[in-house]
Amino acid sequence: MLITGGAGFIGANFVHYTAKNHPEYEIIVVDKLNQQGNKANLDGVIDDIEFHQFDLVEEDKLRPIFESGLDYVVHFAAETNVDRSIEDPDSFVSSNVLATNILLRLSRDFSVKRFHHVSTDEVFGSLELGSNERFNEDTPYDPRSPYSATKASSDHLVRSYFHTYGLDVTISNCSNNYGPHQVPENIVPVFALMALNDGPLTIYGDGKSVRDYLFVLDHCRAIDLILHEGKTGETYCVGGGEEQNGIEIADAILKVTGKPAGLKKFVTDRPGHDRRYAIDYGKLSRELGYKPSVTFEEGLRQTIEWYRSNPEWWKPYMKKFYIPKFMQEDAKRLKQER
Ligand SMILES: NC(=O)c1ccc[n+]([C@@H]2O[C@H](COP(=O)([O-])OP(=O)(O)OC[C@H]3O[C@@H](n4cnc5c(N)ncnc54)[C@H](O)[C@@H]3O)[C@@H](O)[C@H]2O)c1
Repeated sequence: MLITGGAGFIGANFVHYTAKNHPEYEIIVVDKLNQQGNKANLDGVIDDIEFHQFDLVEEDKLRPIFESGLDYVVHFAAETNVDRSIEDPDSFVSSNVLATNILLRLSRDFSVKRFHHVSTDEVFGSLELGSNERFNEDTPYDPRSPYSATKASSDHLVRSYFHTYGLDVTISNCSNNYGPHQVPENIVPVFALMALNDGPLTIYGDGKSVRDYLFVLDHCRAIDLILHEGKTGETYCVGGGEEQNGIEIADAILKVTGKPAGLKKFVTDRPGHDRRYAIDYGKLSRELGYKPSVTFEEGLRQTIEWYRSNPEWWKPYMKKFYIPKFMQEDAKRLKQER
């Protein structure tokens, strides 16, 4: 089984999950180790897998792995940070679109049994705040950031290989993941580490934009189900059933860490910030029996406990904390205020 992006947040959790639950598989990871990739995420399994560091667009390095014979490709690798995509869309086109096409073409040429593509609910655009609408497998695509536009492109490419070449594919579109090994560039780890270090929890805009939150281990279980039992050519939406806005997440993290409300600070909103994402995972439940196993509060407790117990993992990130360009004035102001 080739797991691309297996040193990233979700990919690494999936490598650990698969090594434990399917010891019969030989796992090969390819990861270029960008800002999010970290080989230390594979501590504990690294001796049992094959690891290669290179960019998936380097086809000459990828081809021999396919030549050696693969049953499954599980494709996590992508440039994933929406704020970074606003600053540098080109690298998103290369990793998310071009690399996906190379993987698909090799999967077709070397008769891979199943190609599972991991995608996002961001391809569906934005929902109204306060509405009951949720994304499902029939929602039309309406990506709005360079990140979501490149993920949408890759989804279309995957489907085209199914229809045109008969490649066995499945796709999952999931909501916001949180859990162990997530670098502090997303709201949950940023707020968790800020709370643990008495720093500001920087809430974008009015803090009312809503996302659905999915605990990463529930996501791993869902992918495992789809990979082994999903129908070829089908798409499955995966969610955690937990809608939360920025203020609610900050409050929940302050409660779990026992830190004061005064750490909450409002900052400039992300340009083009989508208002609400919500996901209907009914198809995955009905057809494959999926159900999230933890509430947001329980998942948050487990996540914060992991960060508390692994300071050697997150301390290096605190020295090179990524601050999006639109937030740099706020960052200066907050530093002066401290
Ligand atoms: N994190 C979320 O909340 C979320 C939500 C929905 C969908 N997804 C999707 O799940 C997948 C994994 O997300 P994640 O949060 O683990 O991301 P991540 O950024 O933590 O990990 C991605 C990994 O891919 C690697 N990578 C990127 N481009 C590469 C390339 N060209 N060649 C080789 N390696 C490359 C990176 O080095 C990194 O280790 C992505 O496809 C993402 O779009 C994530």
